[in-house]
Amino acid sequence: MYRIIDGKAISAAVKEAVKTEVAQLKEKGITTGLAVIIVGEDPASKVYVSNKKKACEALGMISREYALPENTTEDELISLIEKLNSDKEINGILCQLPLPKHINEKKVIDSIIPEKDVDAFHPQNVGKIMIGDYDFVPCTPAGIMEMLKYENIDVSGKRCVVIGRSNIVGKPMAMLLLHKNGTVTVCHSKTENLKEICREADILVAAVGRANFVTADMVKEGAVVIDVGMNRVDGKLCGDVDFDSVKDKTSAITPVPGGVGPMTIAMLMKNTLTAAKKQNNI
Ligand code: GUN
Repeated sequence: MYRIIDGKAISAAVKEAVKTEVAQLKEKGITTGLAVIIVGEDPASKVYVSNKKKACEALGMISREYALPENTTEDELISLIEKLNSDKEINGILCQLPLPKHINEKKVIDSIIPEKDVDAFHPQNVGKIMIGDYDFVPCTPAGIMEMLKYENIDVSGKRCVVIGRSNIVGKPMAMLLLHKNGTVTVCHSKTENLKEICREADILVAAVGRANFVTADMVKEGAVVIDVGMNRVDGKLCGDVDFDSVKDKTSAITPVPGGVGPMTIAMLMKNTLTAAKKQNNI
């Protein structure tokens, strides 16, 4: 018998705790503020940004949105970030990715000061994650670790397989599982014997970006399966895991929607609170 890991409920608990702390800071005269920048008209990005703004407001944070046109230059974007870097009301800066092709993403990420980099994409924060000494963790892997903790799923000694090696999810996910003493394998598009490797996983994290990629024959009996996918098929949101065929083999599984997605925003809120506390020496 499997259980569904309810990302909506866990994210609500995380956000409630953040809201309480934001209110406590406010009583001391300290505000918590996030600036979100979006360049261009990507419809999915627009939805994500709007959800981030709503979450900030619901938790009593200051929320500023900068919606810039598609033809914004790299210099214009970086000069906005530089202004926000020294803006006392703003504790966290997030520039929604992907950016239009004419803008160098790496230069933009590097221009956000590490103290306000609530995405944890800056090389300094990435390096800190590598050595296990970090303030910010990228929101999606952080959300997954929070779910595992909340569900009392012990990582120590377990075979963990991450499918996907992106800088945003796969690589930091592997590091966080390793810090919890998991035995971690990262698979990707060039991996040979993918099915066999996945079938060894006690904890399987799918961050592939392909609808229904993980099928029942790739899953060990009793595994915990975490689905990071956000794919649109005929207008319907679906994950990287073929939920219907896989669920009965698992001990616990995250749904899409209502699994990892809501956790990502909750962890962004938590990172923004952490930024506000650090910047005020709390
Ligand atoms: N695009 C997709 N996911 C993310 C994220 O976590 N942060 C940013 N900045 N852009 C994204």
